[in-house]
Amino acid sequence: MKRIKIKELLTTTPGGQQVKVQGWVRTFRNNQFIALNDGSTIQNLQAVVGLNSLTEDILKRITTGACVAVLGELIPSQGKGQTVEVKVTQLEILGDSDPEKFPLQPKKHSLEFLREIAHLRGRTNTISAVMRVRHAMAFAVHQFFNERGFNYVHTPIITGSDAEGAGDMFRVTTLHATKPPLDENGHIDHRQDFFGKETNLTVSGQLEGETYAMALGDIYTFGPTFRAENSNTARHLAEFWMIEPEMAFYDINDNMQLATDLLQHLIKYALAHCADDLEFLNKRAQEEDAAKPQEQRNELSLLDRLKFVVENDFQRLTYTEAIDILRNSAPNKKKKFQYLIDQWGADLQSEHERYLVEKHFKKPVILYNYPKEIKSFYMRQNEDGKTVAAMDVLFPGIGEIIGGSQREERYENLAKRIQELNLPEKDLWWYLELRKFGTAPHSGFGLGFERLILFVTGMTNIRDVIPFPRFPKSAEF
Ligand code: 4AD
Ligand code: MG
Repeated sequence: MKRIKIKELLTTTPGGQQVKVQGWVRTFRNNQFIALNDGSTIQNLQAVVGLNSLTEDILKRITTGACVAVLGELIPSQGKGQTVEVKVTQLEILGDSDPEKFPLQPKKHSLEFLREIAHLRGRTNTISAVMRVRHAMAFAVHQFFNERGFNYVHTPIITGSDAEGAGDMFRVTTLHATKPPLDENGHIDHRQDFFGKETNLTVSGQLEGETYAMALGDIYTFGPTFRAENSNTARHLAEFWMIEPEMAFYDINDNMQLATDLLQHLIKYALAHCADDLEFLNKRAQEEDAAKPQEQRNELSLLDRLKFVVENDFQRLTYTEAIDILRNSAPNKKKKFQYLIDQWGADLQSEHERYLVEKHFKKPVILYNYPKEIKSFYMRQNEDGKTVAAMDVLFPGIGEIIGGSQREERYENLAKRIQELNLPEKDLWWYLELRKFGTAPHSGFGLGFERLILFVTGMTNIRDVIPFPRFPKSAEF
């Protein structure tokens, strides 16, 4: 008999028909009621064991965590909390789970504890809900771009250029760890390394992505990126996934519009397709909020925050306007910011970004036209000689969720900036050639996938929205 998933079963009209369900036991009450979950939905199926229908030996093995196959009749439920249930006629234990040893007891566990058992935490309501939402968001990313005629481009994970400067890199080498070959000057001889040169894990697919925007028009990447910075925060991972669209003929305004459309599409998709999981996460976030001091609580519930972002325009303002607001803000005047804003040119910290979003505008903000000194070499230089056409999208509770820019398409300007910043021009020869052969205005941005999942699920630590988080001093599993 073919197995039916619980998600489908729960919307099937019960008429006493035979069904087969397989899943993991969440709880077993009164030697009678099994709460069964197969991961297809946050809802459990109630499987009811009739008196004397199973042997003592089997009953004893129906424990939290055990995997079972149930055959039975689908009937309307007499109990509260579900419309259908399965009256068990046969039950097979597929995998035992020693209740003395299984670490996931039917009670609330802390997220910190769950991180230590990342191989099992997917069987909790919270983590399974987050991972289903994560899947839905990945699907919706591809859907969004496919509908708009973008091509998905796979940029390399091992890169030979160290040019982007987005963060410190992880080296990739096959040379001996303690006795690498040395060159004439006593330095490690990378000519003998696997690729004949120094290579690293990519920090971004952008530069390679640009080459295909100059061929296919509109492209996007969606892959893992790696940063070896020692940031031990709830917003940083050493391995994270990034979505990077790159569009020929887009200026900075087109770029801001696409970023807005993408984020609103994704959140709308979650509201429409992840209702059960979001409802659960909404309740969970409310309980978490209730335990916090008043001033740290969210003004809006998770679901209301999601709806708010879909229904309201994002506030666009220039870096210069933001500095004026911040300089005159109460926390700046009362010296409440850790980094006080006293002059134009200051890099914005997350406390400033969050003030603008959460206190001043109370909505998502897109900051643009940043000082060139605090942004990357490839960003398009504005007429004022001081700023570049960069943009950051800032979200409530998250801070920066997207970073991007219009790209410098003028050869002379780009080459000059590369020299000013002392960047390795020889590694960037191909990037510069794009500006020599049929250059075009173009723009792009990077959306941090886990930051998006944080926002959509209301989780507060980025380590809980990726199956196996990588961060300093942690690469278990
Ligand atoms: O602002 P970033 O560094 O921009 C780039 O990498 C550009 N090449 C993107 C582009 O224009 N194509 O990173 C983009 C986004 C950030 O806004 C943030 O959401 C996320 O990536 N991000 C991280 N997410 C998790 N952990 C980290 N360590 C992250 N660093 C950046
Ligand atoms: Mg950035």
